Amino acid sequence: MGTKSLCLLLASVLVAYYVYTPIPENMEERWKLMLINAAFRTLGHVAELTEWLGLKHYMEVLMMPTNMEYTAPVSDENLTVTDTKFDNVPVRLYIPRKQSSGLRRAVIYIHGGGWCLGGVAMEPYDLLSRWTASKLNAIVISIEYRLAPMYHFPTQFEDVYTVVKFFLQNSVLAQYGVDPNRICVSGDSAGGNLAAAVAQQLLDDLEVKVNLKIQALIYPALQTIDLDLPSYKDNENKPILPKSLMVRFWSEYFTTDISLHDAMASNRHVSAESSHLFKYVNWSNLLPEEFKKDHVYTNPVYGSSRIAKQYPGFLDPRAAPLLADDTKLLGLPMTYVLTCEHDVLRDDGIMYVSRLKEAGVKVIHEHIKDAIHGAMIFIISPTDLALGHRVANQYIEWLNMNL
Ligand SMILES: *[C@@H]1O[C@H](CO)[C@@H](O)[C@H](O)[C@H]1NC(C)=O
Ligand SMILES: *[C@@H]1O[C@H](CO)[C@@H](O)[C@H](O)[C@H]1NC(C)=O
Repeated sequence: MGTKSLCLLLASVLVAYYVYTPIPENMEERWKLMLINAAFRTLGHVAELTEWLGLKHYMEVLMMPTNMEYTAPVSDENLTVTDTKFDNVPVRLYIPRKQSSGLRRAVIYIHGGGWCLGGVAMEPYDLLSRWTASKLNAIVISIEYRLAPMYHFPTQFEDVYTVVKFFLQNSVLAQYGVDPNRICVSGDSAGGNLAAAVAQQLLDDLEVKVNLKIQALIYPALQTIDLDLPSYKDNENKPILPKSLMVRFWSEYFTTDISLHDAMASNRHVSAESSHLFKYVNWSNLLPEEFKKDHVYTNPVYGSSRIAKQYPGFLDPRAAPLLADDTKLLGLPMTYVLTCEHDVLRDDGIMYVSRLKEAGVKVIHEHIKDAIHGAMIFIISPTDLALGHRVANQYIEWLNMNL
């Protein structure tokens, strides 16, 4: 064998070693998923290097797919699509052209991306909104909230809340021909987090007279204080959202200061003064047996109180809706929660389901056994998966039947 072929062989082995990640046994399209994941990992490594060299913030590099997948607001024979502003916050509106015999339903959609990435114009999100608007013959309002690291909590929450509050005015609903009794707030991942936070906040807002009919939370992030749940342990290195990236997203939501990140990474960011909050995320009580697997519950390890004093946001229910107390939960609208088995955030969703049920809220829980985090954004070639289409259809079908 010549030197050239030896080098080629060596290079192929290295590439194969790099690309190879164990994909859960029960998943389909394993090779495609492995390649998609390798692309994401490569981007992550480039981001690390670029940040280490002091050239760019990590998230600026991760924003590349969002920017590459930009789509203009394009109307077609079924929908009028426009970019506009609601109370100074940018939104993308999808209005069906088909005549409606009565008032229309409305879905307020909040995209995911760890409070740092994503956007209404990102192709998969644009497509999801189109599908929703067409299938339901509903108005969809997709919110372009500001992102970290430029903006931290509570900016993301406040942008979203501003839009929801603006839209829920009777005069605005009338202008768009929307039925005030058939409005949903919905979001995936960080968007599910914001949707849950908005639904809670609306309950205390005396200025808002219209109630949501539904909150739909797609693999939402719901709590900041235990980043070592069984789902974090089981899925630490699963495709698309490894634990390290989730920790980075969480800490970046509050600050770019690395000390919060490091404390979160070792799960010692909460001090003993906040020990009362752990009952809200006590998976020993809140997870059904099948999700506990072989994990053994241990009581929390507390960190210094300096971190929480500096960044109190991470204990705020507007950032971590699972930390709201029971009296707050009982007023919530019918709730749809979709969770994925191979997802660090799986237990956040499941524990919220348990708490909402205990509070007497009507909850529909859809758990997808062969799914990874972010499944619903894999609907655009070349990163489309049958899984993505299945999850998106399931969610939109449910919404169509229930909103
Ligand atoms: C418009 O709706 C019709 C009927 O649902 C569908 O067949 C068609 O493909 C849609 N057009 C576009 C551009 O999506
Ligand atoms: C969590 O629940 C278990 C079992 O009920 C209990 O022993 C433990 O003290 C609880 N821990 C916290 C912090 O609430």
